Amino acid sequence: MNHHVLRDGHEIPAIGYGTYPMDDAESEANVSEAIRRGYRLIDTAAQYGNEEGVGRGIRAASPDVERDELFVQTKLAGKDHGYDKTLAACKESLRRLGLEYLDLYLIHWPNPSVDLYVESWKAMIELREQGLVRSIGTSNFLPEHLNRLEEETGEMPVVNQIEVQVQYQQEALRGFHDEHRIITQAWSPLGRMKALAEDSAVGQIADQIGATPAQVVLRWHVQNHIIPLPKSANPERMEQNLNVFDWELSEEDMQKLHLAHTGIGLKGYDPRTHEEF
Ligand code: A2P
Repeated sequence: MNHHVLRDGHEIPAIGYGTYPMDDAESEANVSEAIRRGYRLIDTAAQYGNEEGVGRGIRAASPDVERDELFVQTKLAGKDHGYDKTLAACKESLRRLGLEYLDLYLIHWPNPSVDLYVESWKAMIELREQGLVRSIGTSNFLPEHLNRLEEETGEMPVVNQIEVQVQYQQEALRGFHDEHRIITQAWSPLGRMKALAEDSAVGQIADQIGATPAQVVLRWHVQNHIIPLPKSANPERMEQNLNVFDWELSEEDMQKLHLAHTGIGLKGYDPRTHEEF
């Protein structure tokens, strides 16, 4: 499995398995299958309501793949923002997952109207000091939120997980990440396959090189140093999505995909106004 090294020194796999929107039973079956097929990074969230199933899936993959070979990440829900609530919510996530530590804990959304994400960030720093989480990050944060974390705590996240697809490339935000050595993770990297099926550039490249449209898009993420987190409940597609490391897109194809940006994302939520709890 290819890796990136985070700014804090920890290694993170270059692709991960997304578990939204799967319930506990689906997560249990599919997470263990995904691990058997080669995934080592598993992404979930308190808000998905599937942490218990994800935890059972992780245990079902043992002893073939043990906990220390995996990178498990989950996210703090908006309803739990605030210092004390964040400490308690992390422990609840660990309990539901049946784990002793998280590799990465993310604040799911900034929820700026609540205005407690800085307090949550201070609690995440404390959770890392206590050894309950190894690395800390954010999701759906914009430069204004990231700058505020640095101003008030002296620290930015090592990962920011955002919506990035070929149609919605988030170049400005990714540029900010690069300046601050923040790794970009992409949620719904396939855009749930909605716009992809209609995208002629993706389809043409896929036909030319004998890959699938999903593989072309995931390879585009990987070649842009973005960690994609595709979800699939189908074992063959799980494996297909992992097979994007032993071949390359040409510069010309990367340029064609660059031009496929429409600015229309699957969700395209604005984190300044979009609130999730
Ligand atoms: P399935 O679970 O039946 O494989 P995203 O990760 O962008 O949220 O997209 C997930 C959606 O894309 C799911 O509906 C999933 O369906 C589908 N999907 C995942 N991988 C592939 C693939 N390689 N080819 C076609 N559809 C895929």
